[in-house]
Amino acid sequence: MSNHITTVQRIETPLHEVDAAAIVVGLYSDGFPRSASAVEDASDGIISRLNEAGENPGKLLTKTPLWNVAGIRAPRVLIVGLGPRESVNRQVAFQAASVAGKSLAAKQHERIAFFLPEDWSGELHEAAVAGALASSQGQDLYRREKKLFPPKELLWAETDADAVRCGQIVGEAVSLTRRLVNEPPQEITPESFAERCVSVAVQHGLSIDVWDEHRLERERAGSLLAVSKGSDRPPRLVVLSHQGAGKGKQPLALVGKGVTFDSGGLSLKTSEGMKTMKCDMAGAATVLGAIQAIAALKLPINVVGLMGLVENMPGSRAMKLGDVLWSRAGKTIEVLNTDAEGRLVLADLLNVAVESGAEQIIDLATLTGACVVALGTDVAGLMSNNDPWCDKIEEASRTCGEPAWKLPMFAEYGEQIQSNVADIKNIGKGRWAGAITAAKFLEEFVDDVPWTHIDIAGPSFLDAPKPWCDAGATGCFVRTLIEVARSYDG
Ligand code: BES
Ligand code: MN
Ligand code: ZN
Repeated sequence: MSNHITTVQRIETPLHEVDAAAIVVGLYSDGFPRSASAVEDASDGIISRLNEAGENPGKLLTKTPLWNVAGIRAPRVLIVGLGPRESVNRQVAFQAASVAGKSLAAKQHERIAFFLPEDWSGELHEAAVAGALASSQGQDLYRREKKLFPPKELLWAETDADAVRCGQIVGEAVSLTRRLVNEPPQEITPESFAERCVSVAVQHGLSIDVWDEHRLERERAGSLLAVSKGSDRPPRLVVLSHQGAGKGKQPLALVGKGVTFDSGGLSLKTSEGMKTMKCDMAGAATVLGAIQAIAALKLPINVVGLMGLVENMPGSRAMKLGDVLWSRAGKTIEVLNTDAEGRLVLADLLNVAVESGAEQIIDLATLTGACVVALGTDVAGLMSNNDPWCDKIEEASRTCGEPAWKLPMFAEYGEQIQSNVADIKNIGKGRWAGAITAAKFLEEFVDDVPWTHIDIAGPSFLDAPKPWCDAGATGCFVRTLIEVARSYDG
């Protein structure tokens, strides 16, 4: 099952001479980048002939394979459509490289070379490197007959070494997140996830603190602990810190829901509803991927990553409907649905974030089915207590091409979570606005710290493959978080 690391290297070799199993060449729908012209010239005008025949090889995300083009050393050339030159952005770059990378990953290759447009910025090339790398990270981890084979080596032309190096860091972060989410829930438990965090910390020079169940008791994290009670597997809370700025500088906090399996607890899910619930730790996996990249990029800011790792099960000690929990913040919570567990985990995590002196907070969570009802499977929900902070995250998501849409946080929604027996209850009235009532619950635990919640229940996990991503984990929002960290100015 070992999934070896692909090495990435910048090359300046001319396209004709590159020694690789395949060469990927980008083509606009309205123009020829230099490398596409080279293929055109070597092949007696194959691209023009295809265009005349009504094919449209430059159309966005189209793949056109060519074999044994005269004068080109590599046996295989894959033309990938980039659409109109004007509309190229980081999403196009990431997806086009992923489409090419994924299709070539159907076979084991030693070396694949990418020739994307010479007029692309370093940022576009970086996004493409990340896409090419992540595209071979799929759900077939335990299949004897793999469907995706990462190449041993990626060769990258037409850009500088920095874009390639950063692209590799970002691609490896996305791959890490995908892999953690795709691994089965018997393998990824609160303890083993925490161990993965330790190895990331050791590898990348992050400091780490792992709170076990005893520490969590001492910390009075009664809300998070309650979720773990129905499982034999003890919970963990992981604190990872990157110190890129001075000691005195307040950190940006990245907070992730890490429910390693969500059975629903006593409010048991249906079999159908439970089928993909290994993905319920995607928020925590996104935080881990992002902070790994932030450390590797040596960004000059302080970041604290907080992950709440629990398994939500209906064991005999499970929390019950009617239980009242004492959260770490001191607020009491009436439990009326044990399947609304993510917010219980986040309540204590957010409190730790506030206490750690966070200047601003982002949390990521596969929090509600209601968010998928509202926005569909491709778009994440943004909810915030601070518009300028939310706008920054929205802008970063737009830059990276990871769609997100803001939902309102009017005070009226908060009335739904008032309780008669405790300070607050863990579900609203019925199903309406379920994504927002969940966010209103979270808002109770962030005091006045600028905070944005990203509900990734839709886009974090695909039921069916896309041309640029295998079914299963997507690693969405790792790139957005990295972008937020890069453009962070407090
Ligand atoms: N992990 C689920 C949300 C989810 C649903 C994620 C579908 C990914 C895909 C969450 O813990 C949950 O069960 N939420 C409930 C909340 C309800 C009980 C208020 C839901 O959405 O039904
Ligand atoms: Mn649940
Ligand atoms: Zn859940």
